[in-house]
Amino acid sequence: MESETQVKQLIYRSFVDDDTSEADIYRMIRHAQKYNIEHGLSGFLICDSKNFVQLIEGAVSQVNRLFDKIKIDERHHEVEVQYRDMSLSRIMPFLGMGLCLLNCKVDFQQDFYFTRLQAKEFSSLFEGKVGNYFRGFLA
Ligand SMILES: Cc1cc2nc3c(=O)[nH]c(=O)nc-3n(C[C@H](O)[C@H](O)[C@H](O)COP(=O)(O)O)c2cc1C
Repeated sequence: MESETQVKQLIYRSFVDDDTSEADIYRMIRHAQKYNIEHGLSGFLICDSKNFVQLIEGAVSQVNRLFDKIKIDERHHEVEVQYRDMSLSRIMPFLGMGLCLLNCKVDFQQDFYFTRLQAKEFSSLFEGKVGNYFRGFLA
């Protein structure tokens, strides 16, 4: 088990593939919840129907391993890292992956699902560059 004194934080942006639906993303994240919790990962995924923006945080080896899979996932393309740093504390207060589909009309009711308004309020708690990046995207 790696020390939790420092966590890696990574934000990437990508383009949603034309064939990827909101229901696909929602299903994918429900599976991801289990994986992320089991591997000590936390984060937040926002999709505005064109782009994904995701924060992933956790042990270096776990973040790298997950990101290696995400980079080659065919549900999106042109994955580009926006921010990468080490931090003494996590931004997210829970393990797993928060999800917000900005233009979504379906009422997904799950603990990890955030409406646009909830995501905006929640991101006001994010500090530093990560907070600025997320608030900019949600504005
Ligand atoms: C935008 C996006 C975000 C993703 N985020 C996660 C995630 O946080 N956790 C996760 O386990 N899989 C996530 N995935 C799915 C992974 O790319 C991959 O399909 C999953 O880890 C299963 O990989 P495996 O079949 O090789 O085990 C994401 C996929 C996409 C397109």
